[in-house]
Amino acid sequence: MMTRTQVGIVGAGPAGLMLSHLLSLNGIDSVVIDNRTRLEIENTVRAGILEADSARLLADTGVSDRVLRDGHPHEGIDLRFGGESHRIDFRALVGESVWLYPQTDVFVDLANARSRDGGDVRFGVRDTCVDVDAPAIRFVDSDGVAQEVRCDLLVGADGSRSICRDQVPEALRTFSFREYPFAWFGIITQAPRSAEELVYAHSPRGFALISQRTETHQRMYFQCGPETDAAVWSDDRIWEELQARVAGPDGFTLKEGPITERTVLRFRSFVAEPMRYGNLLLAGDAAHTVPPTGAKGLNLALADVRVLSEVVERALLKNDRDALDEYGPRALARVWKAQHFSYWMTTMLHALPGATDFDVRRQLGELRSVTGSEAGSRFLAEGYTGCWPA
Ligand code: DHB
Repeated sequence: MMTRTQVGIVGAGPAGLMLSHLLSLNGIDSVVIDNRTRLEIENTVRAGILEADSARLLADTGVSDRVLRDGHPHEGIDLRFGGESHRIDFRALVGESVWLYPQTDVFVDLANARSRDGGDVRFGVRDTCVDVDAPAIRFVDSDGVAQEVRCDLLVGADGSRSICRDQVPEALRTFSFREYPFAWFGIITQAPRSAEELVYAHSPRGFALISQRTETHQRMYFQCGPETDAAVWSDDRIWEELQARVAGPDGFTLKEGPITERTVLRFRSFVAEPMRYGNLLLAGDAAHTVPPTGAKGLNLALADVRVLSEVVERALLKNDRDALDEYGPRALARVWKAQHFSYWMTTMLHALPGATDFDVRRQLGELRSVTGSEAGSRFLAEGYTGCWPA
């Protein structure tokens, strides 16, 4: 079966679906495919913080205003070290807040909006391959039928294990990456909130992050070794570790409950350049991944497709193919700021294996510099909210 469209998009995560949505607002046709089923994507627990611009993009372009109704605006975070909390007030420092709204909900809103607007999204496909020279996507659909989608432009929004990225010839591409000697143990617990805002905790036992989900379920993480097997940890041991990492003279404790979900998240910083090769454009995790500290991944993906939709419109509707050249440099300027921010938050807050007393006390000095001065706090607030000066 053959389908003809203007933009063929591999990957129906937030990047692929948002791009398809933005293009459709300008009358540009696209087909989105994904090898996962819709249910598989909906059941993957991902991060939960949206920059204000990401929330506005969802609401203002008509995806859904659910983010504004069901999401929670957060006007700051707590940095906790030496057993004390220090608030960073985003609203006062940069005039913006962020939204607690899980990526799974962003995905559901986008998938619903695409189906409401008659978008062509095919989940659960297999054997996907792409042709960049005569742009096309070939795959076997969920009914077992071989399909070909011919298009003018191809977009690889197919995540950190992208197959599209490999189409850029080795001689023309640069992969920059950094591994970290730790991971996060992430849990969902059925318990009330322990704090109104997110708590990022530095402790001698390592980092912990106290986040939220709903009135009844909360999300928390603690630094662990990269080879940790989540299954062998009892609930009691998990709570003991989390409590120890946030403990302090102020008596702050976490409200405990049954742990309903647990996963170990690997840490990596990665950027693939260029983001364009001929008819192929890469977006989101296919082009870059960040360590989770600061929750930049989804926000970067949405920032990519905002630029990408604009240059694709110029290329396809105004016959200005040179516009495509602008995509990589414009997107990468933000990507590298976010890479720095995620790396910086990570290295400032985590216990580095083999750290000396000097290293730990230097980290505490850095945390005091950030929380103790307006310039330091504003630097964090700009990065966290994504409100970097242009
Ligand atoms: C969440 C995840 C993050 O990585 C982060 O920095 C903040 C919040 C979350 O899942 O809620």
